[in-house]
Amino acid sequence: MPAPLRFGSVPRKHSKMKYERTLLREVKGYVPGEQPRCSKVIKLNTNENPYPPSPKVLEALQSLGPEALRKYPDPVALALRETCAERYGYPAADWIIAGNGMDELLALALRTFVDPGDTVLAADPTYSLYEVLCALHGATLQYVDLGPRWQLTEAFFQTPARLCFFTRPNAPTGIAASREEVERFCAVFDGIVVIDEAYVDFADDNCMDLPKRFENVIVMRTFSKSFSLAGMRLGVAVAQPPIIREFLKTKDSYNMNAVALAVGLAALQDYGHMEANVARVRATRTRLRDALVELGFDVPPSQTNFLLAQWQGQPSAKALFEALKRQNILVRYFDLPRLRDALRITVGTDDECDAFLAALRTLLQALGG
Ligand SMILES: Cc1ncc(COP(=O)(O)O)c(C=O)c1O
Repeated sequence: MPAPLRFGSVPRKHSKMKYERTLLREVKGYVPGEQPRCSKVIKLNTNENPYPPSPKVLEALQSLGPEALRKYPDPVALALRETCAERYGYPAADWIIAGNGMDELLALALRTFVDPGDTVLAADPTYSLYEVLCALHGATLQYVDLGPRWQLTEAFFQTPARLCFFTRPNAPTGIAASREEVERFCAVFDGIVVIDEAYVDFADDNCMDLPKRFENVIVMRTFSKSFSLAGMRLGVAVAQPPIIREFLKTKDSYNMNAVALAVGLAALQDYGHMEANVARVRATRTRLRDALVELGFDVPPSQTNFLLAQWQGQPSAKALFEALKRQNILVRYFDLPRLRDALRITVGTDDECDAFLAALRTLLQALGG
């Protein structure tokens, strides 16, 4: 049986539905960050990009005629995969698979490479969806704790598993393991390594070349963060063709809709727009981090579009989170042992970050012990 869930567990007595599968009795499901209906909120809680997607994307949307909706989309997303292959330095589309968000590809990786009952490895803390996906699949997620500065430990390199979710840069810490560590891990791990690069466009380097060298490596990317397309649901995975052929067996027949295919293509063709937005976010990230450090927060250097701001003082991090929320400023709070003293703050526009900092300063003065 899978280990008990921290994020998704629900006591058996609460499970009332007569027709429920045995496996689902222990699973509550993933709880995403809040998406408020009110537009007056400063939303720094789900790592969206504060800047709009490329104008080319909007043009592609507007030029979609009724025919594109009447017909089924390309079941194998060939144009998008070819463009990705070219962009990421791969010879052809058979190195790429597209997904309805990276979340779909993460679930597909379990469906394709993990048997129920198998063990999956991840560092802790990390992206909490992995645990829910493993529970839904009947697999056991084996966590290995990160060290005191959120670094990988030797135990991570020595734990056997069928598949590993290697998140680089990691969430919610923002830290990227060194490339040497990734390469060493890929060489020793006897299973599939999914390198989750959801935030990598905000980082100094990436591992997109590793599938060329390692037959067990899958690099995954999302369009939700750097390309400002979270609402579109688009992700891609890169791996050697035999791996991609397995994915093509397990994916839904039309997993990519016609709108997402057109939008994804346009976004890739205007890569410079994404890079310019990333540069703005990185500049604001530096400014926001400096200001938080000055206020007394411990903030690991982030390679992503968010900061983990750790806070030992008064009021507690949870009280700060709640007080900010009452002022319509949303950040993320995780009620977990190692994260209870921290806020995860998405890097917004300069104005949003200034408003957040002003509110935070006032709260620390008013509520501070
Ligand atoms: C580490 C990590 N991986 C994957 C995803 C999922 O990305 P997508 O929006 O493409 O499903 C997220 C989203 O927040 C994430 O934080």
